[in-house]
Amino acid sequence: MTSPSRLEIRLPDLTRNARWWKSLLEPGCLFGAVVKANAYGLGAARIARCLVDAGADVLLVYSLEEAVELIRAGLTGPMLVFMPTDDPLAEGDAREAVAAGRLQFSADSPRQIEKLRQAARTWGRPIHVHLHLDTGMSRAGLSPTEFRQAVETLTTSDPSLTLRGVYSHLATAEDNLDFAREQDRRLADALTPFREKLPKDLLIHIGSTFVTCRDRQFHRRLARIGLGLYGYGPAAVPGPHLAPPSELSHVVRWVSSIVHVQTYAPGATAGYDRTYRIDQPTRLGIVPVGYGLGYPTALGNKSSVRVLDSTGKPLGHAPLRGKVNMDQVIIDLTDLPAADVGSTAELISADPASDCAVPRLAKLAGTHCYEMLCRISTRVPRVYV
Ligand SMILES: Cc1ncc(COP(=O)(O)O)c(C=O)c1O
Repeated sequence: MTSPSRLEIRLPDLTRNARWWKSLLEPGCLFGAVVKANAYGLGAARIARCLVDAGADVLLVYSLEEAVELIRAGLTGPMLVFMPTDDPLAEGDAREAVAAGRLQFSADSPRQIEKLRQAARTWGRPIHVHLHLDTGMSRAGLSPTEFRQAVETLTTSDPSLTLRGVYSHLATAEDNLDFAREQDRRLADALTPFREKLPKDLLIHIGSTFVTCRDRQFHRRLARIGLGLYGYGPAAVPGPHLAPPSELSHVVRWVSSIVHVQTYAPGATAGYDRTYRIDQPTRLGIVPVGYGLGYPTALGNKSSVRVLDSTGKPLGHAPLRGKVNMDQVIIDLTDLPAADVGSTAELISADPASDCAVPRLAKLAGTHCYEMLCRISTRVPRVYV
C-alpha cells in the first residue's frame, strides 16, 4: 500500500481569504503576500500564483533563492527579499528582475548598504532597496542614526541605490498592541525629518496579519500578510476587527487513512514507554503519520484525529494513545464503531471548530500555527484542490 497521506490546500478558499485581506486596505495601500519558507510550507509557486491572481501586489520572500524559485515559475511582479543579501546579482535568473527594479532588497546595516552599492556600481545599474529600521525587534535593521544617514545619502547623492521603501517589523503584533503602536511611532519619527525629501511613492510598511486585521494605523503603504492568508490568526486575537474573522476559511487539510485496527484487552499498554494504559476493551487504529512527516511529538496522548467514513461524513474525533512514533500514531476508535481500515483520518482539519484545527493543535503542542505548517515534511504531497 502506498502512503495515503497528503496535504490538501484549498485554492478557492485561499483566493477568498486574499480578497478579504485586500478589502481591508484603503486604495493606495499595497497588498503584500508573504510567501517565504515555501509559502509557510504550502508550496511557494502555486500559492504565489494564486495570491497574485487574487490581487496580491507584492510578493515577500526571505532569500534570493526563494525569489529565483518564483521567477523561474513565471512570476513577474514585484518582490522583496527580506534577508540581508550582500550580492543581489548572485543568481543569473534574477538579474533581469533586479535590473527592472521588480526584485528589491532589504538593506539592514551600513555594511550591507555598502555591499549593495558596490554591486550596483560594478554592474552599472541601480538596485532597488527598502531600508529596514529596527524599532524594537533587535533582529537586524538599522539603528535610528544609521537610518538617518542612509536616507540622507540615498535621497541626495547616491544614484546607485534607488530607495523604494522603508520598513520595520513588529515584535508583539499578536499580544501587545501598545508596543506595536510604539514601534510604529518610532518608524514615523524616523521619517519626520525627511517628509519633504522622500519619494511620493515610497513604500512605508510595518504591519502583518495580527495588526492589519485590527487597525488601519498599521496599513501604511504596504501590508505584509502571511499567516492570515491561510485563515489563521485574526480569530485568535481580541477585536474589534476591521471585518469579521469568521469570514476567513482555514485552507489546509492534512489527511491520511487508517491502515490497521485491533482490539486490546485491559492490562495492555499502547506504544513506546507504555505511556497509555488500557483499562477496558479498546479498539486501536494506526494512522501512518508520525514525527518523520512533521506531526509534533508533543501531541502524544494529547491531540486527536478526526475520522470520516468513505462518503466523507465525519464520524468523530479519535484521541491519540501513547507517544507519536516516527511513522505512525495510535488512535482510539472504541467510541467510533463505524471507523475501520480505510476510513479517512484528518490530522489537520479545515473545520475551525474541529479539535484538529491548526490553532488548537499548535496550542496543544506548545507552539504556534507558523511552526505547525512549516514543519510538515515535503514528503507529504501537496495537493491543490
Ligand atoms: C518581516 C516580516 N513581515 C511580515 C511577516 C508576516 O507575518 P504574518 O505571517 O504574521 O502575517 C513576517 C513573518 O514572519 C516577517 O518576518
